[in-house]
Amino acid sequence: MACLSSSQLQKFQEDGFLVLDEFLSADECVAMQQRIGELVANMDVPLHCRTIFSTQDEQLKVLDNRDYFWNSGDKIRFFFEKGVFDEKGDFLVPPEKSVNKIGHALHAHDPVFRSVTHSPKVQQPHFGGEVTPHQDATFLYTEPLGRLLGIWIALEDATLENGCLWFIPGSHTSGVSRRLIRAPAGSIPVTSFLGSEPARDNSLFVPTPVRRGALILIHGEVVHKSEQNLSDRSRHAYTFHLMEALGTVWSPENWLQPTAELPFPPLYT
Ligand code: FE2
Repeated sequence: MACLSSSQLQKFQEDGFLVLDEFLSADECVAMQQRIGELVANMDVPLHCRTIFSTQDEQLKVLDNRDYFWNSGDKIRFFFEKGVFDEKGDFLVPPEKSVNKIGHALHAHDPVFRSVTHSPKVQQPHFGGEVTPHQDATFLYTEPLGRLLGIWIALEDATLENGCLWFIPGSHTSGVSRRLIRAPAGSIPVTSFLGSEPARDNSLFVPTPVRRGALILIHGEVVHKSEQNLSDRSRHAYTFHLMEALGTVWSPENWLQPTAELPFPPLYT
């Protein structure tokens, strides 16, 4: 990949995010989407694990769900949009339209995704819908801050109607408002927040529609969100994180921890 120009670097440093158009070809996007279609067609999710994905911790309060989520760091598991299950856990919509996110180790287990992201440091792939305003460092905390970079690749056009990303430009310079802390084993709730997410002025968010194949660089502390996709068009994206490892401590309180079986793969060795 070509280096960023000095004006691109400056824009990233000012805004906390940067759009790089045409990072992937249409063929590469199609290959990843086809593979996701296969994974969803073959998914087998136990009833008690049919949980929505949310940046809140509601779904983590149920012990069974906790294991499904917490142990997903080195597996391919499915998380769902709101309102897709009835009270018995049966699908109210076609299963292929129900998935919010597939995580968290597509990069390790799936050859199509591995070929695109061959060895990033930290990855948290998902195919997302609505995500409430947040900073990635809330969930993936490092010391010092400023060492985490989100990579978000649109596999389809991301528009105002189908859930493109929105950012508060420049919001990456004021620290982290809250952290998600993993509770000791056996405790309920299984996570808690240190600090609180302030009310955000909606008018500060700038929409960032992009074409298929575009990559958005996301500073670990920039505030961003995506709206629920209420259109009839899907909006698949592939996303993961990179961490500058040198001189950085990955917080032992983060929900996502490397395991002996699947340590964070180094990008440069
Ligand atoms: Fe994020």
